[in-house]
Amino acid sequence: MILRLSALIALVWLASTGETHTVITYPGWRGNNLITNDTWPYGMQWMYPCGGMSLTTNRTLWPVGGGAISVQPGWFQGHALAFFRINMGLDNSGPDGGPLSMDIPLLDLVQVAGPSNNPYPGTMCFPNVPVPANASVKAGDNATIQVILTAQHGASLFACADITFAEPEKVPVANSSTCFNSSDISFNEVYTMSAPPFQIPL
Ligand SMILES: *[C@@H]1O[C@H](CO)[C@@H](O)[C@H](O)[C@H]1NC(C)=O
Ligand SMILES: *[C@@H]1O[C@H](CO)[C@@H](O)[C@H](O)[C@H]1NC(C)=O
Ligand SMILES: *[C@@H]1O[C@H](CO)[C@@H](O)[C@H](O)[C@H]1NC(C)=O
Ligand SMILES: *[C@@H]1O[C@H](CO)[C@@H](O)[C@H](O)[C@H]1NC(C)=O
Ligand SMILES: *[C@@H]1O[C@H](CO)[C@@H](O)[C@H](O)[C@H]1NC(C)=O
Ligand SMILES: *[C@@H]1O[C@H](CO)[C@@H](O)[C@H](O)[C@H]1NC(C)=O
Repeated sequence: MILRLSALIALVWLASTGETHTVITYPGWRGNNLITNDTWPYGMQWMYPCGGMSLTTNRTLWPVGGGAISVQPGWFQGHALAFFRINMGLDNSGPDGGPLSMDIPLLDLVQVAGPSNNPYPGTMCFPNVPVPANASVKAGDNATIQVILTAQHGASLFACADITFAEPEKVPVANSSTCFNSSDISFNEVYTMSAPPFQIPL
């Protein structure tokens, strides 16, 4: 009941503001940065590198070789098409004690095609995003995963999740309830993108 009510409130709020959103559903993100107020008149998520959210201690254990990343890209009024990137930062020399640069690309450019120009629910999940071998991470190392959504007009939304690397057997395996692709969005690596199964309003 509580969940359904909050979902309804979120939908009503989205419909009334038309704000843009990206939610990282796994690993747990730094926190809700879907905020527009006097401090963030354009919305927090436009702020590099993590949508206005500083480093947290809300860390998810994530496998050393790579693991699942699940994102809801679609709270995005007026932009049925968008591009995604997922990067990782390992250092701790940023002003918040987190990475100064998210310089390890984890996922090639992905294009997302939503069903319409209205905000749409929907989840996309990459069950096994590998960490490049030359990143040389080991169990116990901390890192930040950065998800960037670039809108059709070129501006970018940011969200981050803080993780700690762990041996794979210590991390719950992603399953069909934690990691799934919903059927209402279409996405693929840009260079292999095929026509989406629906008409995109331009
Ligand atoms: C922390 O992580 C959990 C899941 O691991 C997530 O649900 C939550 O949104 C994250 N952020 C905060 C501020 O709790
Ligand atoms: C806007 O929201 C952020 C995040 O919750 C908060 O830190 C800030 O104080 C808020 N600004 C105003 C003017 O309410
Ligand atoms: C990782 O971050 C946590 C706080 O989130 C900290 O307690 C721990 O010492 C860090 N580990 C390393 C190896 O820096
Ligand atoms: C790691 O390998 C990738 C290509 O596989 C390369 O682009 C990158 O520069 C390498 N990074 C380091 C730190 O050597
Ligand atoms: C998926 O994994 C979560 C967390 O590990 C667990 O709570 C849930 O029961 C699992 N669901 C299925 C369908 O296996
Ligand atoms: C979701 O779709 C992407 C792109 O086709 C694919 O790489 C990924 O494995 C899919 N995820 C799941 C959980 O099937």
